[in-house]
Amino acid sequence: MYALQSAHAETPAERLAGLREQARALLEGERDSLANSANLAALIFHTLPGLNWAGFYWMKGGELVLGPFQGKPACVRIAIGKGVCGTAARDKRTVVVPDVDRFPGHIPCDGASRSEIVVPVMRTIDVLGVLDLDSPVLARFDADDALGLEELVQLFLHATDL
Ligand code: SME
Repeated sequence: MYALQSAHAETPAERLAGLREQARALLEGERDSLANSANLAALIFHTLPGLNWAGFYWMKGGELVLGPFQGKPACVRIAIGKGVCGTAARDKRTVVVPDVDRFPGHIPCDGASRSEIVVPVMRTIDVLGVLDLDSPVLARFDADDALGLEELVQLFLHATDL
């Protein structure tokens, strides 16, 4: 017997939309930033395919310090302007890196990572931290992922005291 196939495979856009709805439900009724960022990192890691790391770095004392994440242990402190995370924080914009070996200054945490996306967490003009996703797949992230994750960060900010 052949296994029944799902009649409708989810597109990446549908998956991101589904992730947003799950995040809305998960964060509802809780405003603690540690709890919400830990749960959101876990939800992202276990919902989006092809990830080997998902988590937050928070701005503390003028540098990025490791926050809640899923994946292998990672470097703890990143200076602003260093690596993909520090670049996104300095430039206050999402950075998509299709091939980490071609990003000068990339900070390797898990040797399996081949591509990366970093979204700054900002309420106004101040960077509060970054959301970082790594993938063992080259060019895993595109402009739709950037938009979807930026919306997710906004949802997190609305739901959370930070
Ligand atoms: N690769 C990142 C460092 C953080 S880890 O990927 C979790 C960077 O270059 O900033």
